[in-house]
Amino acid sequence: MSQKRELSCIVLAAGQGTRMKSENPKVLFTVCGRPIVSYILDAVSSLSPDRIVVVIGYAGDQVKRSIDDAWAKDNPWKGHLEFVWQEQQKGTAHAVACARKALAGFDGDVLVLYGDSTPLLTGGLLQGFYQDYLCSSPALSLVTSFVDDPASYGRIVRDQSGNVARIVEVRDLTGAEAEIKEVNAGIYLAGREELFDLLGEVKDDNAKHEFYLTDVVQIASAKALRVSGYVARDPAWVQGINDRYELAKAEDMKRREILKGLALAGVTVRDPASTYVDYGVPVGQDTVIEPQTFLRGKTTIGSNCVIGPGAEILDSNVGDRTRIWFSVVEDSDVGCDVQIGPYSHLRPNTRLSRGVLVGNFAEIKNSLVGQGAKIHHHSYIGDTDMGEHVNIGAGTVTVNYDGIQKHRTIIEDGAFIGCNANLIAPVKVGKGAYVAAGSTINLEVPEGSLAIAREYQVNKEGWAARRKPKGR
Ligand code: UD1
Ligand code: CA
Repeated sequence: MSQKRELSCIVLAAGQGTRMKSENPKVLFTVCGRPIVSYILDAVSSLSPDRIVVVIGYAGDQVKRSIDDAWAKDNPWKGHLEFVWQEQQKGTAHAVACARKALAGFDGDVLVLYGDSTPLLTGGLLQGFYQDYLCSSPALSLVTSFVDDPASYGRIVRDQSGNVARIVEVRDLTGAEAEIKEVNAGIYLAGREELFDLLGEVKDDNAKHEFYLTDVVQIASAKALRVSGYVARDPAWVQGINDRYELAKAEDMKRREILKGLALAGVTVRDPASTYVDYGVPVGQDTVIEPQTFLRGKTTIGSNCVIGPGAEILDSNVGDRTRIWFSVVEDSDVGCDVQIGPYSHLRPNTRLSRGVLVGNFAEIKNSLVGQGAKIHHHSYIGDTDMGEHVNIGAGTVTVNYDGIQKHRTIIEDGAFIGCNANLIAPVKVGKGAYVAAGSTINLEVPEGSLAIAREYQVNKEGWAARRKPKGR
């Protein structure tokens, strides 16, 4: 085997993305919960590149921060990543030229691709393209695809021997060129020196007065340098994301790809049309995802669960055999054999231990709930440490906020809180203690005792008859 040539990758991410009609940079728009540029960086890393240069410009600090936080952190390719600035966005050729210095002293091949490529772009496609390039050794190679509607893509013009003669950008199309269905996917490979030499000759004499990277094709052809076109079998793998409709289409395709992956891994996805699972959310075997379910962010779901219908789970961990229906769970840890719903809300920093039951219209926030506790019916539990096998009666409220500060409530193992009780924090209900229904508790309830804090009942006999007006 010959020694591996060095490979570096340049990802163009300096443009604003005018067609998105947004103040936010295009490459940070998310698909299935993840910035589109992160998918591109994943695909690129699968080639084991020696260097990855990201060209930033519009909102460059924000783009850099996002890549550092969302992609580079804990990523083995982190050390290969480098950012260069393109202060003014003068076109894709100009953007690539900005990476020249960063690649000085490096003499292998360069892969260039656009940060607004589709998240459906796979490492597999890039590997096939790279192998083909290494085998046929053209001066320059690029990925193309055949599409029914070439829309705003650059059109590929081939010469008689099947090599690529030039690329015509949509605004510069003339006559029959508009009929061409083979388009430029925006993924290129060339030797470093050849690439930067060709870039030096690109001019901005086109409709947009930009330096088009696509012009290097014609410049190379004119020098009798061979430019090959590698056709991607499925155009969906190489579509750019230029406006929000293309973003929506990419989201739909990626979402279905994720759901298919889960289904093939042993998860029942009852209704793919109404199920939304973010990239990288693991779901255990034999879990059933019912319709209208959203699994977002850094969520993990165990095995043999039933999630949904109508569940939204965000940045939370859910154990095995747990059921969550018509409920919202945020930033929380839910143990095994738990039931939540219908119509309950777990707010951030809640931990439910094994076998907890959370029922109709319950809200829990910043609380620890011990094994086997029951929190049914219209209750609010906030800033609470609850022991095992506690029973919370309907309408119980932990009164955790005095208008200035939040205070904690402690409810020890086996305590029983009667219906419609207020527990005014800071307060503690001891082990096995009872709180009578309708009580407002502001003093500690000692272990094993019964606290009654309500008015005694008065019955006025015969009152109803006396009240009636005479003759009725
Ligand atoms: C580009 C190609 C087109 C191809 C299509 C594939 C050119 C001239 N045209 O068109 O042939 O069919 O992609 O999707 O290359 N960028 C910079 N700096 C700049 C300009 C752009 O970094 O000065 C970045 C953008 O952030 C974007 C990428 O380059 O990620 C492509 O730019 P864009 O304006 O989207 O090009 P297209 O018009 O889609
Ligand atoms: Ca584009």
